[in-house]
Amino acid sequence: MRRILFGLMVLAFLLPQAKADEGMWIPMLLKKYNIEQMQEMGFKLTAEDIYSVNEASLKDAVVIFGGGCTGELISDKGLLITNHHCGYSKIQYHSSVEHDYLTNGFWAMSQEEELVNPGLTVTFLKRMEDVTEQVMHGVTDEMSELDQSKLIQKNISAIKKDAVKDTHYQAVLKPFFNGNQYFLFINEVFKDVRLVGAPPSAIGKFGGDTDNWMWPRHTGDFSMFRIYADKNNQPAEYSKDNVPYQPQKHFSVSMKGVEEGDFTMVFGYPGSTYEYVPSYHLKMLTETVNPKLIDVRTEKLNILNRYQAADPKVRIQYAAKNARISNSWKRWIGENRGLEILDAFAKKQVYEKSFNQWATADESRAEIYGNLLSNYKKLYEEYTPYRLAKDYILEISYRNGIEIASLANKLSPLATLYYSAKDSGIEADKEKISSLKEQIKSDVELFFKDYYQPIDKEISVKLLAMYLANIPEEFHPDIYSKIDKKFKGDINKYVENLFNKSIFDNKESVLTFVDEFSEKSLSKLEKDPAYELYNSFMNLYNDKVSVKDKAMQLELNKLNKAYMSAQMAFESDKVFYPDANFTLRVAYGKVASYKARDAVRYEYYTTLDGIMEKDNPDIYDYRVPEKLKELHRNKDFGKYEVNGTVPVCFIATNHTTGGNSGSPVLNAEGQLIGVNFDRAWEGVMSDLMFNPDQCRNISLDIRYVLFLIDKFAGAGYLLDEMTIVE
Ligand code: ARG
Ligand code: ASP
Repeated sequence: MRRILFGLMVLAFLLPQAKADEGMWIPMLLKKYNIEQMQEMGFKLTAEDIYSVNEASLKDAVVIFGGGCTGELISDKGLLITNHHCGYSKIQYHSSVEHDYLTNGFWAMSQEEELVNPGLTVTFLKRMEDVTEQVMHGVTDEMSELDQSKLIQKNISAIKKDAVKDTHYQAVLKPFFNGNQYFLFINEVFKDVRLVGAPPSAIGKFGGDTDNWMWPRHTGDFSMFRIYADKNNQPAEYSKDNVPYQPQKHFSVSMKGVEEGDFTMVFGYPGSTYEYVPSYHLKMLTETVNPKLIDVRTEKLNILNRYQAADPKVRIQYAAKNARISNSWKRWIGENRGLEILDAFAKKQVYEKSFNQWATADESRAEIYGNLLSNYKKLYEEYTPYRLAKDYILEISYRNGIEIASLANKLSPLATLYYSAKDSGIEADKEKISSLKEQIKSDVELFFKDYYQPIDKEISVKLLAMYLANIPEEFHPDIYSKIDKKFKGDINKYVENLFNKSIFDNKESVLTFVDEFSEKSLSKLEKDPAYELYNSFMNLYNDKVSVKDKAMQLELNKLNKAYMSAQMAFESDKVFYPDANFTLRVAYGKVASYKARDAVRYEYYTTLDGIMEKDNPDIYDYRVPEKLKELHRNKDFGKYEVNGTVPVCFIATNHTTGGNSGSPVLNAEGQLIGVNFDRAWEGVMSDLMFNPDQCRNISLDIRYVLFLIDKFAGAGYLLDEMTIVE
């Protein structure tokens, strides 16, 4: 059966599809169909120019920046551009009240002044390969789901190991089309990546969270880094002897700009999309998961915003945390709104109805697809409360939740070492222990650099109360019975006591405790209320959520795989693109204005004049730096002037998502015209359903970047190393 499905899928690749714009395509598989469509839209290059195994191609100038963004090379000396929000935590890392690079920006005026970023990596894709057959080797329909998945995992490990044997490369292997196809990626990872420049937040984050996910936008969302390599141009750990990396390819920068209707291509790493899910998935998100998570984060943000506004030090300490919390919070709100306006649930249901008619019209089809949707329905009913509990637990433990509890958890690996030594009756490995202690101590230092206890206390009370009120009793961890018994259910009193009694409320006491940690410390750790709180949630998760969740996940994967190939068979005249999975993709589209709502139509670009219109010294997000105002007043725009102002951002119809931030936006000749950084409010539901009339990606116009580097920062030497096409 698998063979037949797969055959159908291959066939589907060869047939035409109706709608342009939508889609995130695999660069290696850009077929006649895509290229023809692209060329019709104006594209001047070939598939080989985009991705080639033998020659340097555009793909060699695109990188994964850090763990979740895209970046691109713009000089032959390893100079890289990405978003300000992608470099944000690094800019914050180097910032203090004395050297506040977040507020004032940072510009290295020579390579010596560039700042080192421990832990930051940049990843290049060397090549990719379809390994579906090897991954499925030995897997049969007769095997249980669990056995299938075990064998697949085993095959994957072997393929990866083999692929990078005796090289310094790294292998990544990922499922596509919900497990109907697998690709192997061979990557090269650079580890010495230095900060070159970033504008002040009043430019790089202009409009802040007020304008985030919105158009019209005026954010100068970029920062620049440089990749260093050893003397042989190979990746190396940081060393002062390292030299700027010479990439195989870097983008030329075009000053020609864009006009409505122009071809644009975004080349980057979209994270995840869910275009092929059943209506039940939308129902779960819009009715349960999104609203509940929005509420949790609204409360978190209220608390953070209040403290941050009151104290400049706290503002810096919590800047990156706030941005992280707020970004998804606002996206969920937009997603719900967009799905509702699009009537997405009803649309899916109509589709499912005709799918079912097709599936049951033929006996042999009915046998495999007939029950798909009813199985989905049952599964989602069961799955939804688990998914909510899991997300809520994550909001408390991992995703900027109760910080003191996550600090306590940093000692878990140490405790584990002592416990396992104790169990096996031998002494714990001294070397391992001392290196672990050093690691923990440096984590503790970093933790307290950005920690403000009054925030944590207030958040703790809020989160514990919300969990109690929103999550069914079967998922309540035992800490609540303690709160009932010892504190008469008073969460405030419990939290007061937690912070009074825990050793984790103070840096010195934690550092000493770690330093002196021995087998005898285990019982003290176990009794510590912060450690107890963390474990209480973890135990609940392990005992009540995880096992069931994993089993349902397996079931869901099975349905997803079948439904994906079924949809491909059902719409056999459509060319499908795989959901995003943080692998390199091409999205192509056109610069386009759009109608946002009744009587409101948005232009496709913004300008420096718009920044001055938004200027408001009383609103933090809209304070324009004096220097920028002066340049504007004097019309000191240099060669970046267009119609008496400077272009700032533009929108287009490229299908993008989280992870595409920092992606190069290219014109018909493959030259850099912008840097992608966001999507417009009316279209953020595109992760679940794309609507070409409403979905717009937002890019920074590269001419604004050049203007800022040149006129605002006075770092013109950086322009000299770029290849600028005027
Ligand atoms: N919304 C954009 C993306 O998802 C930019 C986020 C950064 N900006 C912010 N104000 N939090 O990543
Ligand atoms: N801002 C997103 C990112 O950081 C891009 C998006 O979601 O459109 O990747």
